[in-house]
Amino acid sequence: MVEMLCGVLLLVVLCGDLTAGQTCQANALRRDCGYFGIQEPECVQTKGCCWTPTEGQPWCYYKTSPLSVYHVDAVMPNKLGTKITLKVSGSTSSQFGDLISPLTMDITMESDERLHVKIHDSNKQRWEIPTDVSPIGSVPSSHPANPLYKITTAKKGEPFYFAVTRASDGEVLFNTSHSDQPLQFADQYLTLSTTLPGTESIYGLGEHKVALQLKRGQTFTLWNFDTATPPNLNLYGSHPFYMDLRQSGKAHGVYLRNSNGMDVVYGNNFLTYRVIGGVLDFYFFLGPTPEGVVQQYQEVIGRPHLPPYWALGFHQCRYGYPNVEALSDVVTKYAANKIPLDTMWTDIDYMDGYKDFTLDPNNYPLSKMTQFVEDLHNRSLQYVVIVDPGIKVDHGYKPYDDGISKGVFVKDKNGNVFTGKVWPGVTAFPDFFNPMAAVYWKDQISTFYSTLLKLDGLWIDMNEISNFCNGQCSGSSHPEELRRSVDDGLKFDPNNPPYNINNQGTSTKLNIKTLDMDALHHGGVMEYNSHNLFGLMESIATCSALESVREGKRCFVLSRSTFPGSGAHTGHWTGDNHASYDDLYYSIPEMLSFQMYGIPLVGSDICGFNGDTTEELCSRWMELGAFYPFSRNHNVKGAKPQEPYEWSSVAAISRKMLGLRYSILPYYYTLFYKASRPVTTIPSATVTRPLFFEFPTDNNTHSIDRQFMVGSGLLVSPVLEQGSTTVKAYFPAGKWYDVFTDQVATTSGGTTATLDTPIDHIQVHVRGGSIIPGKGTGLTTYDSRNTDSTLVVALDNNGKASGDLYIDDGETVSTSQWMFLTFNATSSGSSGQVISDIAGQAGDLLKIPPLGVVKVLGVGGSPSKASYNGAAISGFQFNTTNNVLLLTGINADLTSSFKITWE
Ligand code: NOJ
Repeated sequence: MVEMLCGVLLLVVLCGDLTAGQTCQANALRRDCGYFGIQEPECVQTKGCCWTPTEGQPWCYYKTSPLSVYHVDAVMPNKLGTKITLKVSGSTSSQFGDLISPLTMDITMESDERLHVKIHDSNKQRWEIPTDVSPIGSVPSSHPANPLYKITTAKKGEPFYFAVTRASDGEVLFNTSHSDQPLQFADQYLTLSTTLPGTESIYGLGEHKVALQLKRGQTFTLWNFDTATPPNLNLYGSHPFYMDLRQSGKAHGVYLRNSNGMDVVYGNNFLTYRVIGGVLDFYFFLGPTPEGVVQQYQEVIGRPHLPPYWALGFHQCRYGYPNVEALSDVVTKYAANKIPLDTMWTDIDYMDGYKDFTLDPNNYPLSKMTQFVEDLHNRSLQYVVIVDPGIKVDHGYKPYDDGISKGVFVKDKNGNVFTGKVWPGVTAFPDFFNPMAAVYWKDQISTFYSTLLKLDGLWIDMNEISNFCNGQCSGSSHPEELRRSVDDGLKFDPNNPPYNINNQGTSTKLNIKTLDMDALHHGGVMEYNSHNLFGLMESIATCSALESVREGKRCFVLSRSTFPGSGAHTGHWTGDNHASYDDLYYSIPEMLSFQMYGIPLVGSDICGFNGDTTEELCSRWMELGAFYPFSRNHNVKGAKPQEPYEWSSVAAISRKMLGLRYSILPYYYTLFYKASRPVTTIPSATVTRPLFFEFPTDNNTHSIDRQFMVGSGLLVSPVLEQGSTTVKAYFPAGKWYDVFTDQVATTSGGTTATLDTPIDHIQVHVRGGSIIPGKGTGLTTYDSRNTDSTLVVALDNNGKASGDLYIDDGETVSTSQWMFLTFNATSSGSSGQVISDIAGQAGDLLKIPPLGVVKVLGVGGSPSKASYNGAAISGFQFNTTNNVLLLTGINADLTSSFKITWE
């Protein structure tokens, strides 16, 4: 009986005596055998593992026995590092398949800050992510001059390990030498552990709905999956990257460049990777600042896309708008209520039978839709619609027929078109590994654009790939019946590999709600290896199609599924959250994590997607959402309407908060610009950021995820609890001013204050030392961009401040006219100055509105006059109560350097 089970199901724990001689060692480092919520009977009886409940450690863990160990066989130094050969000594059989031997470890010192360590099969090319899908950065030809790291490895004949230390102080950052968890490299089970000091803070390893600072004792599973965002479990995207911040305030990053499913177990003193394919391809980024780590990471995966300026305006969407009249009604009500709105969206409702690239002839007929979009454009608004990857299998439906004739759909293991089921019914999926698929996708978007809708951007959803069946739909979709027996020639059931990752908190099969793992992509690439890449590949094709169809205008794409590299092509929203205070809070760690993943254009569905929101929750969410880099209200079909004008209170709050947002969009846009430039030109990577990015040596900041920074200059502290009208806000060191009242909140910082925050308010503070560029507000970004520029100069305790501003046309891909300005303010007593410099410029001088207003916070003494390039400024006001100088009507030409003085 056991033999039969072994043959059919490959249940490893029942197969023979692989665990013979192993014992339960509760005090050794535990390798997690379970999943969140597993109980003792399943752990012990079904899985044959050990059960010892201990806080912070896996309760269900594998028995241990002396594992076969790799030894160093040869060491060969080369120009940029070392090549090391590893061989298994002793038996190659292991719990999850035969160990591969020999292995090669290539150590490449790629720059002073970046070290690359790749462990792979010496004799056979294994699956690796193509570099045109997710890039790897450039490798210099010469050895870095002053590496910030040292790498030590075992010597010839010794058991394998490597350790990375920080050169400046010898701190160990990554060390694989722990003997209980040695490297194991089988075809479908690759594991490696690093020891950790136990005092570090770890961030990343998304996509999960968890606190920003990861908790020990958890397994982070990376496997793209469509689900209504339960906490802890694997969500839509995979980012095998973490940042490790030490108590010294020094940070480093670790990126495992691998697209296979994996569990990353974070224990008390260790972090273990368990990966089910590919190679162990590690990049170490030495920081030492957190922002530096992200910059160094982005040099590998690609710098973020600069979105069109309008993308930073406010967006309204919902699933379930019944017809085009409903869309018009929403736009009209926004205008009537004077709430800023830049972009109207439509979910799958606009489609004919949920088929991509069609219009519902009854509710969204072409003539009315054309008129609607034209009206939007005439009012300087934009229009974005959803497109899903599933193309309905329907002969006579052109997108399907074209896909068949071009042969661009994903195939099943027999070479037939793989069919799943999504909104339109049975569907096929474009295979973006096939170069023709990009051509096909562009053709569809181009025809849609030229014959149906002059859209401004695309929203790509369901791209995990989400499937309503578990694997191929034809025949039965019952998972048990999809189990493949071993006699089909494969060594294993690809949906059920020897090691089960913790997919959705159970050891469920890999094809649950997605494709079968033996589905085939162009070039013989198996879904098993490339599953996590689909969203990224669709983003690449969609952005490039939009930029070509819309003739050189920057693409706007919003993708649910992401992978390292996505940020160069798309933004992201955090999927199907709930109208709950918990999810209001989680939106902050999610937003901040995606800054680390190189996808700064991110936000959550404001007021909550699933469930009915309330007036209070929606008020708090509009307040917080006004500061997301991507700010969109979106709601599920059937839930109560939640456009901000639904309540007069929320309408008023939205006017106030979006008014503030629009007035500081030049600051946001400049942050996006800086993140999009080569790091060597501008060292900046994130738009919003955790407090510890700016104050890494202040350990109080390491776990803060209920407040965040925008750039280095603004601190946002929202109310996140029902019924509360106060915020406990932490102010790191420095001087902080309230942006609404200009009052000084603290001159020293390092303190927590309880701030009155009534329902119509959010705490936003500007940091002394910053200059925030802005504009007048407007109901659209177009209007706001046409107003005069403003500067808020927040002087620090030394009377200094600085800032910058990027200006271009806000929409073209290769902007030929742009300017990058820097501002520096100094003051002493009652006199001071702001100087602007043009740090970079291209093309003819831009025709832009002048600088109209400068507000200086924290002025000493009592100035009585001011001048612009020597000429008196007539609009002079000095408020002696709060030391604020307000200069108006300045009319300064931003296209040349200038000096504003006061005395
Ligand atoms: C799932 C998406 O996450 C959600 O935002 C959308 O409204 C529905 N699909 C319907 O398209």
